[in-house]
Amino acid sequence: MPNDGESNPVTCHSNDIVRLPDAETVAEAGRLIRQGALVAFPTETVYGLGGDATNGEAVARIFAAKGRPSFNPLIVHVLELGEAGKLGNFSYQAQRLAEAFWPGPLTLVVRRAANTPIADLASAGLPTLALRVPNHPVARAVLRAASCPIAAPSANRSGHVSATRADHVAADLGTRVAMILDGGPAVHGLESTVLDASTGSISLLRPGAVPVETIEAVLGHRLARMPGTSDRPASPGLLASHYATRAMIRLNVTETIPGEALLAFGTPPADFAGPVINLSPAGDLIEAAATLFSALRKLDASGVATIAVMPIPNHGLGEAINDRLRRAAAPRNI
Ligand code: TXA
Ligand code: MG
Repeated sequence: MPNDGESNPVTCHSNDIVRLPDAETVAEAGRLIRQGALVAFPTETVYGLGGDATNGEAVARIFAAKGRPSFNPLIVHVLELGEAGKLGNFSYQAQRLAEAFWPGPLTLVVRRAANTPIADLASAGLPTLALRVPNHPVARAVLRAASCPIAAPSANRSGHVSATRADHVAADLGTRVAMILDGGPAVHGLESTVLDASTGSISLLRPGAVPVETIEAVLGHRLARMPGTSDRPASPGLLASHYATRAMIRLNVTETIPGEALLAFGTPPADFAGPVINLSPAGDLIEAAATLFSALRKLDASGVATIAVMPIPNHGLGEAINDRLRRAAAPRNI
């Protein structure tokens, strides 16, 4: 049956809130994450909705659970700087900031390292990656138990305020999450500060729990602010740096034109002869979301002038997939 992301496939645990998680519960949370399920856990900033960042389908389930209408890049949580350094490329300045503030409520956006195992969808197809080393004991215990990087946006429905208590998470996400770990009220109650360290200079993408002045004191100079910075910083999906295909994109295609590549969904036309990638032969939107960015990249690399995209239903994650495809198809200045 097509999975539109409304239910979580792994339900070996009830979504009852687990108070003061013991070692066994944390081990179970780690197992659930490794199986591709979602676990909500406390961090020092807000509660996070965590999934295995290396598993595209787990990441797709995060977007489905939040009900996000588009794919915003997520923060990937790891245990220490050494691990972060294998996933992204740290400039000298980025390294300094990590050493000064990790573990803690600072997120650094860096270039993705070559062959990073992080799913493309976690960073919404961007060439960059947002990394953070949390210092909450429960968050760290879950990271240790899962022994994989964990993608975790704030554990609230899209458009709602961030959850700072376990019962907020339960009210917002309910059965969409396999397990909710309770660590009491979040200490900061405010998300991490997000800095862009992917270019030659450091700039502020989102003000948060580490005050800007504290960061400036470490850097020894003022921070550049992104124009229009707010909680929705220069929406990364719209940034020039966002991955755009070289090929033209043609949407809702039911009849292909010779010479095109085909991004299929469901059953492709039997007579199609060009390069084709099927986002999900079974018509599963979770699977399609997990494959989307790498499929676009591969078809683009095949050198065709146009990528034809079959119609994708506009419910569940389909809305976010179509949003991303419309942006890729929009006229652009190169
Ligand atoms: O405190 C926090 O940061 C919490 C806890 C759970 O760690 N997480 C959180 O995640 O607030 P989320 O997904 O709600 O916010 C992620 C922020 C967004 O503003 C997003 O645009 C930005 O990080 N971001 C993530 N990856 C990015 C990237 N590659 N480039 C630019 N911005 C990025
Ligand atoms: Mg949020």
